[in-house]
Amino acid sequence: MQTISKILSNIAVSNMSVYREIKKVTTHVLSEMKLRGEKISMLTAYDYSTAKIIDDAGIDVILVGDSASNVMAGHETTLPITLDQMIYHASSVVRAIDRALVVVDLPFGSYQGNSKEALNSTIRIMKESGAHAIKMEGGAEIIESIQRILTAGVPVMGHLGLTPQSIYKFGTYTVRAKEEEEAEKLIKDSQLLQEAGCFALVLEKIPAELAKRVAQNLHIPVIGIGAGNGVDGQVLVLHDMLGINKQFNPRFLRRYLDLYGEIKGAVEQYIEDVKSTDFPNEKEQY
Ligand code: KIV
Repeated sequence: MQTISKILSNIAVSNMSVYREIKKVTTHVLSEMKLRGEKISMLTAYDYSTAKIIDDAGIDVILVGDSASNVMAGHETTLPITLDQMIYHASSVVRAIDRALVVVDLPFGSYQGNSKEALNSTIRIMKESGAHAIKMEGGAEIIESIQRILTAGVPVMGHLGLTPQSIYKFGTYTVRAKEEEEAEKLIKDSQLLQEAGCFALVLEKIPAELAKRVAQNLHIPVIGIGAGNGVDGQVLVLHDMLGINKQFNPRFLRRYLDLYGEIKGAVEQYIEDVKSTDFPNEKEQY
């Protein structure tokens, strides 16, 4: 049975939210959502079939994250994934989409060299996948590249806090910006990204109070992962929230399904049915 407060909060959400009426999510729609206090929902996807499901469900933003390197290819880090592989994933996602904004990660090694390299990689993503925007990790050190990409008319999403492409610099995946010096740099970087023209910013695994402060300081939407509830939206890796990954259990992750168990159970049942000749039965053959 639902509590009264749950029922009231559901009514408030359905009154406030116009998300189902939005035909196409654009960067402009996202800034309007921030203005009226409507939270932005974002998930990763890397293939046609899952992108179709989450777009039909009404997700606002789909991130073709370089986390594909971990969850799709089984690498330990996001570093090995290539630009060609990101384009393959992104074009599969774009073919599935009617409504969501599709943002693609520039992978490690495709933009750090110089701003021309960053622009060339971006142009390949936009031309070959049909995506709507790109995301890059970093602050002051990538501002020139961001400006050059924006000059070409491509929207850029920033990413600060835990930036997995720099994992060998950090050494661990623990919470970032707990110390004042790093927190101050993050605040400065977030302002630089906004001034450069980023349309939104992802904050990963930083203290909730700091994330809230950044979101309040900026007029662009701030989307958190492990950054608390004071930001303008949330992003999770789809495979994590569906429980396909068993090994990854950070505190910030809410699992909505145990798909690992569900899929394993279904496959075990199928094996049993085949072995016992129960499958196919008379109705399942010609
Ligand atoms: O690659 C990714 O999935 C990401 C999210 C964790 C924000 O960058």
